[in-house]
Amino acid sequence: MQTIIEPFRIKSIEPIKLTTLAEREQMIEAAGNNLFLLRAEDVIIDLLTDSGTSAMSAEAWAGIMRGDESYAGARSWYRFRDTVMDIFGFEQVIPTHQGRAAERILFSVTVKADSVIPNNTHFDTTRANIEFLGGKAVDLPCAEALDMDSDHPFKGDMDIAALEQLIADTGPERIPMIMLTVTNNSGGGQPVSMANIKEVSRIAGSFDIPFYLDACRFAENSYFIKKREPGYADKNAIDIAREMFGYADGCTMSGKKDAFANIGGFLCTNDAKLAHRERNILILTEGFPTYGGLAGRDLEAMAIGLREVLDHDYLEYRLMSTQYVVDRLRDKGIPVVYPAGGHAVYLNARRFLPHIPPLQYPGQSLSVELYREGGIRSVEIGTVMFGHDPHSGEETPARWDLVRLAIPRRVYTQSHMDYVLEVIEQVWQRREKIRGMKIAEAPDFLRHFTARFEWL
Ligand code: F0G
Repeated sequence: MQTIIEPFRIKSIEPIKLTTLAEREQMIEAAGNNLFLLRAEDVIIDLLTDSGTSAMSAEAWAGIMRGDESYAGARSWYRFRDTVMDIFGFEQVIPTHQGRAAERILFSVTVKADSVIPNNTHFDTTRANIEFLGGKAVDLPCAEALDMDSDHPFKGDMDIAALEQLIADTGPERIPMIMLTVTNNSGGGQPVSMANIKEVSRIAGSFDIPFYLDACRFAENSYFIKKREPGYADKNAIDIAREMFGYADGCTMSGKKDAFANIGGFLCTNDAKLAHRERNILILTEGFPTYGGLAGRDLEAMAIGLREVLDHDYLEYRLMSTQYVVDRLRDKGIPVVYPAGGHAVYLNARRFLPHIPPLQYPGQSLSVELYREGGIRSVEIGTVMFGHDPHSGEETPARWDLVRLAIPRRVYTQSHMDYVLEVIEQVWQRREKIRGMKIAEAPDFLRHFTARFEWL
């Protein structure tokens, strides 16, 4: 069959409030042209993030009812722990309220002021948690990752030569771990190949440096390996995932992505002594080691979601539905990051609006226009987010000006995506008339969340 359908039926719905252009113009103006400051109910298609926004299955909702809320040793904890051990294969499992809590605990027992931690590309919270402890977070993406039009199948790979150079320059004793983010969110949701995972693991092992995966989108990465890497076509996603984690010494995970959960995360390691220290911090800030800041029902939902996410029909649909949007944009000549990643579509705003210089925030203009045109909420990933040094106050163009349209799991159908495509095309048709923006007010740190913008 040519047509790929959503492999689920809809049992429970949430109405979408449809708004008019005039209403949206008034609402975005009142929000200071910042999409973070809108009320969610005033958004028609919310593509702000794929994190915590998944639709849970009937089975997971049933699990929510079965959740065991005992303080210690709950049935839901054991179900969760056994599921994580079965798929991820690590000996120590530490539940946390979300991914960044796992990062904070891991780094607080391993990172010192002179530490250096390489990654293909650190996600914001990973970088911030390392820098908060005085460490240095270094991104080592492969060269193809920097070319937005390259068809390279694994643009999430780490640059191996750069890693070896970094270890030689820094000295292995200052590197408490090497990380790989699967898939590479900040690099366009691009996957990492098994060959690269294996090679990074080998290098880490040869220097006795622990190797960690940031596993948020591990199932999507596993399925990309199945589809794109020679030798994996006949393997199951779960076996590919097990192989990936088999090369690692531990992982951090946000259950808000590839566990379909609205909240939750965990930290894994094979090092019992390290886990002991991590659990002591967990007790101090998150909770007892058998719930880690979560309700029993949240653990239950994650345990169910972690199995569902490895279903082949789901993963096929997931990757194809993202590719569907990317391919159609590309066919129309609309600048989009290629090839399609797993969880999001990235518009290249600098090329979409070449007449707007980076310091007039083309990504912000484009994301506001997508809202005005059709009520779509996206997020600017560019000069607003990364172009400002909070210490010197200096502004410089970010490497890219992108607009990310992250696709919540199992939430929107193909007709919603056809609507998104139509909205993007309408904005594309009148792109030459779109103006740049200036910042009217902004805080020094993490300004993108609360800044207010004005049209030039
Ligand atoms: N690592 C990656 C690669 C992520 O994408 C995220 C979250 C985290 C860690 C942190 O997990 O939110 O559970 O604390 N990414 C979300 C996003 C917020 O929109 O991309 P968390």
